[in-house]
Order: sequence, then C-alpha cells, then structure tokens
Amino acid sequence: MAELFNVDLSLPEITVLDAGCGTGVLTAAWIDMVRKLGYDGMIKVTCYETDTTVVPILIENLEYIKEHCHIEYEVKVENYITTQHFEQNMLFGDEPQQYDYIIGNPPYKKIPKDALEAKSMPSVCYGAPNLYSLFCCMGIRNLKDNQEMVYIIPRSWTSGAYFEYFRRYLFDNCVLTDIHLFESRDKVFDGESVLQETIIIKLKKQRQKPTTIRMTTSSTSDFSDVKAFDAPYDAVVAKNRYVFLVTNKEQADVLEKVNKMPATLPTINMPMKTGLIVDFRTREVLRNEMEEGCYPLLYSQHIKDGRVIWPQGKEGECIFTDKKAFLQKNDNYLLVKRFTAKEEKRRLQCGIYLKQRYPQYEYISTQNKVNFIQCDSPCVTYGLYVLLNSTLYDAYYRILNGSTQVNSTEINSMPVPERSVIEEMGRALMHKELTETNCNQIIEQWIR
Ligand SMILES: C[S@@+](CC[C@H](N)C(=O)[O-])C[C@H]1O[C@@H](n2cnc3c(N)ncnc32)[C@H](O)[C@@H]1O
Repeated sequence: MAELFNVDLSLPEITVLDAGCGTGVLTAAWIDMVRKLGYDGMIKVTCYETDTTVVPILIENLEYIKEHCHIEYEVKVENYITTQHFEQNMLFGDEPQQYDYIIGNPPYKKIPKDALEAKSMPSVCYGAPNLYSLFCCMGIRNLKDNQEMVYIIPRSWTSGAYFEYFRRYLFDNCVLTDIHLFESRDKVFDGESVLQETIIIKLKKQRQKPTTIRMTTSSTSDFSDVKAFDAPYDAVVAKNRYVFLVTNKEQADVLEKVNKMPATLPTINMPMKTGLIVDFRTREVLRNEMEEGCYPLLYSQHIKDGRVIWPQGKEGECIFTDKKAFLQKNDNYLLVKRFTAKEEKRRLQCGIYLKQRYPQYEYISTQNKVNFIQCDSPCVTYGLYVLLNSTLYDAYYRILNGSTQVNSTEINSMPVPERSVIEEMGRALMHKELTETNCNQIIEQWIR
C-alpha cells in the first residue's frame, strides 16, 4: 500500500494521516517507504485510534520511529468521524484539517442509520451505512487537492444502491488511479477470517480523469506474484458510476461489447424484480398440495435445465391466498436464482416460465430467493434467456458484482439490446436446446 504513492520528494515537509491506525503498521510502512526513496524532510504524522488498549503500543512504535528518523507525530484518541464536521456548514464555516497523503485500513462495520457517525455524515449515507465508507469520505475531505489516498476496503461499494451516495461523493472529488484485487479472499489477512472480499484502492483528489487505471491482482498477501493490467478508465468507472473490476483484456472486451447495447431492462419496460414471498413469514398460506383457492408458488429449486418445472413435490410449493400482495398475474416470466454457490460454474442461472403451460391459473407467486422478469411475449422470454444464459452476460455480471448474490438493481443496470433484437434472439432459440452454447451462438450474431 505504501509503495502505491507517488510522493513529491521536493516538499520541505509532508503531512500524513492514518485514521483507525491500530498499532500504526501502515504509518510505519509509509515512513519506511519515503525514507528509502531518500526523503529527509520533516514528516508530520497524525494517527486517530479509539481503542485505548492499542494506543500504548502505537505510541511506543511512533517513539521508536522518531528515534530513528525526522518525524513529529500526534495521536488523537478520539472518534475520527464524529469529532470533525463533514457536511458543509455555513454557520461554522470551518475548514477541515488537510493532509498531503492518507493511508488507511478503516473499520469494516455496518452501523445503524441513527448511529452518531451516520448522523454526522447524512449526505453520504443510504440506509444503514458501513463505517469504511464514512472513513473513506472523511479521508477525501481531509485530503489536499492533487494529493493521494490509499485505502484497503471491502469491494461492496463498487455497485448497487446502498453505496450510491458514497460513489457520488468519491467521483465528484477524486479519480481512481490504482486498484489491487486479491484472487483469494482468505489470504488477505493471514490467520484472520475476513469474510468480505477486500481491495486496495488509490485515489487522487483531482477532476481530470486519467486514461487508464492500473489494475493489479495477486494470489497471496505477500504480493509475490502481482499481475498488472492498464484498463481504460471509462471501462472501470461506468457512466452510472458503478465500478467494474477489470483485470485483463478478456474482461475489458466483455465490457466493451455489452456497454455498446442501447437499452436496459427498465427502459424496455421489463424490469427485474425480486420474488414476493418470504416463506418462513407466511407459513399459514403455504400448502404442499393443490386445493381450491391455491396457486403455484415458484422457488429457485423449480429452475431446471433452463425451464421452470412445477410442481416437483416440494414442500410449500402451493400458496393458498387471495391477498393481492402475495400474488402476481400468471404470465410469461424469466426466473433468475438470487443465490448461487461460489463453486458453481455460472452466477446467472435462469429458467423460462410460460403461462400457456399452466392455463388453469389466474395467478402465480414467487419466493423471494428468486428474481423474475415479467415478459410481454414467449419470444421475448426466450430472448432474455439467451442474454442471461450466455457466457458474455455471466462474465459481465461477475465483473460487476463479486458476490454470489444476484441483485435486481444490478441486473437492471446492465445494458441490453432493443426489445426487437431480444425477440429475434428468442425466436432463434425457441426450438433448440436451452444450452449455454446455443445461447452463445445466437448472441454472437448480434453482439460483437
Ligand atoms: C481494521 S482496524 C485497522 C488497524 C490498522 N490500521 C491496521 O491496518 O492494522 C481499524 C481500526 O480503527 C479503529 N477505529 C474504529 N472506529 C474508529 C473511529 N470512529 N475513530 C478512530 N478509530 C476507530 C479500531 O479500533 C481499529 O483499530
């Protein structure tokens, strides 16, 4: 992380911030790096840490460094977020303390939306925020113009609705210059089980976009096998400010192809939605077999080889209700699993449901572990299957979202062809096997 900085060695003194510094390992690495580059000016370090059990070790470490090099330090045993003003406030008008370089490994913790930290930064919070994004925004505010910040954080901010305000603040003030990905999520912090996939990002506080972003990957935390790829900036930071973690030419090609598409599912009036029924909360209306007043309830287990096969003798696969909120029109649908396992080959797994196979029902319902797209014709249902069952769209989704979950917000943001093209694709598949190879052959005629 320290080596990612381009330090201006001509500065007579340099200020550095490490917020949530723990025992100061990142500060120590940073000082070591600039000294090795030959910098002999004054380094002024500011460290924030709230855990009083680590503060004595932190001070001991900083004292040790001070004995060996020219530094001054300030340890602030206070809350980095709530002791500063983030929101522009005409009354106070106080300018934030700003630093030349910021390095950090902030706390990763979801906090309630009424936590003091969230309430002190409302403009970058949506729902219950994660502390790491607040640290990042505060870091940007504490950074001098044209200077650099390197953070190690989870990758969850790169897409989706929850981090939209965070991304807006980040890209209104900074550009991304470098991103490092760890190929295996368990190897980042040796001996610790960090469940979230983490990435290292370097930001520069400037508006001028670079043409490329340096993307690096390594399979170990000692960085012995780093591979680098310079990805086009606009491929990584999309127009909607989602961040695509592109690490090689093949992935850049996938993005280039899909990003040329003119529409999205919502713009062609077929948005993806999440299934209606949380089964454990609605046990009283679930039935194992059909009876008068019952409708089919579709689960992800009903998706088999590209089709929705119902019934399967599965527990609770019928719903006995007349409550409109629990039912949807019996129509043509493409169902997509919301959850897949890491080892499964495909992230996007879908099945076609056609109303003509079940003409006896006015309504059906869906469990909330599936997403669905209500399609306006059988042909379009097949056409959307061609897209979402192709290797191209599966690859696109994986670059967009590293988790095993398939979120409708993200699918709705993916560029797709016009409706007429989707219909043509569907027509081409209709009497063929629903294989990935067939989908790929069809899609290749339209998306190059
Ligand atoms: C993920 S640890 C990183 C520690 C250190 N930077 C490292 O890389 O080893 C985050 C640190 O932030 C501290 N912390 C949590 N909330 C804080 C807050 N609001 N203000 C300052 N420090 C905080 C924690 O006590 C913890 O030591």
